[in-house]
Amino acid sequence: MEFPAEPFRIKVVERIKRTTREERERKIAEAGYNVFAIPAEDIFIDLLTDSGTSAMSDNQWAGIMHGDESYAGGRNFFHLQDVVRKIFGYEHFIPTHQGRVAENLLFSTLLSPGKVVPNNIHFDTTRANVQANGGLALDCAAKVAYCPDEEHPFKGNMDVELLEKAILEHGVANIPVVMLTITNNSGGGQPVSMENVRQVSALLHKYGIPLFFDACRFAENCWFIKQREPGYQDKSVLEIAQELFSYGDGCTMSAKKDALVNIGGFLCTNDGELALRIKTKLILIEGFPTYGGLAGRDLEAIARGLEEVVDEDYLAYRVGQVKGLADELEANGIPFIKPAGGHAVYLNAKKFLPHIPPEQFPGQSLAVELYREGGVRACEIGSLMFGATEAPEMELVRLAIPRRVYTSAHMQFVADVLCRIAERKESLRGYRIVWQPPVLRHFMAKLEPVA
Ligand code: F0G
Repeated sequence: MEFPAEPFRIKVVERIKRTTREERERKIAEAGYNVFAIPAEDIFIDLLTDSGTSAMSDNQWAGIMHGDESYAGGRNFFHLQDVVRKIFGYEHFIPTHQGRVAENLLFSTLLSPGKVVPNNIHFDTTRANVQANGGLALDCAAKVAYCPDEEHPFKGNMDVELLEKAILEHGVANIPVVMLTITNNSGGGQPVSMENVRQVSALLHKYGIPLFFDACRFAENCWFIKQREPGYQDKSVLEIAQELFSYGDGCTMSAKKDALVNIGGFLCTNDGELALRIKTKLILIEGFPTYGGLAGRDLEAIARGLEEVVDEDYLAYRVGQVKGLADELEANGIPFIKPAGGHAVYLNAKKFLPHIPPEQFPGQSLAVELYREGGVRACEIGSLMFGATEAPEMELVRLAIPRRVYTSAHMQFVADVLCRIAERKESLRGYRIVWQPPVLRHFMAKLEPVA
């Protein structure tokens, strides 16, 4: 197995706690067999999310001390605006405290009941914000996105024919914006190709519909373009990003991913009138348009993080580390969505635990076992998360890798834990829900093992 050498050395360390199997048995039972209810202190390797969990660099921490906490017009806003304009190229830049606020501002401004927002696959918060504003969130991903075993370089692509069909069916007047999520988180962290972006953009501009990117993991997406798409090998990731964003009209961004910070987000648009309407709303719910719910120091950390994330030594390590873990699982016959995503490996629990039916939550069973066996925390994305109304197509467990946080030895540890589980996987049992809240049940549900 090959893990790339980390292109950094470690200046500050944070202790993580080893626990005994007995302790973990007790903690997971106390948590109602829901990993969200385990205190983070009792986790050894936390792969719940790559969002807001990045390690900042010495350069970013130094930037924190350069925070200008003026209410209006602080210098960090202008620095971040310059960096955002350089990479994304859009005229108007509006900071928010995280990605979903940018989504909320965009959709509450553009949508009214009956409007439709196509996407390759909506992330949960995007879908929820579209729906909360009376809209229909439509997924138009290429069919290959739903074939977990099929290797394809750009499994995040939009199905352009399907998109055109949706436009004709619902009518141009009912589609105020089309989103493209790069990389496609809900479809396995898979990238979208530049060719696909160009096709989507051409189609939308023919109909006069704006294209917005859900840009959380744009640098990872652009790295895949450099690696996999003919004609981009000699371009820098920055140049690739600049070209990619030039085909769109704006973006929403969760800086908690590819800006390498713990909190933050923003929205960009070329539409001055839209920007003005959003800024007016921003003052009501987030703050003045030059800080948008963040401290000046946070803006500085984002600006520096965005400069660092397009560094190709970093990206080779980042995507290589995720692939190293996937390769190790492949060598041991542990099924996951092929190929590995940019930020996560998505275990295929349906295939791994065929003896546990969807109504007994095979993904949850695996997530619980990861904690029990090694103190590893991962997130079920399957019948517990989505199955309240009907069973989803896939039963997944996402191993999301925080950026610059864990070493290759940690990844090997996770692979070893999974190998030990694989040896006795027939002994894993299903779960049943003993209590659940009315919405987003996976966060708070209590479960018990099926006898
Ligand atoms: N869009 C995508 C594609 C995301 O993955 C996320 C968050 C958001 C928008 C919302 O951003 O959290 O800053 O409000 N994804 C996290 C995850 C929560 O674990 O995948 P946010």
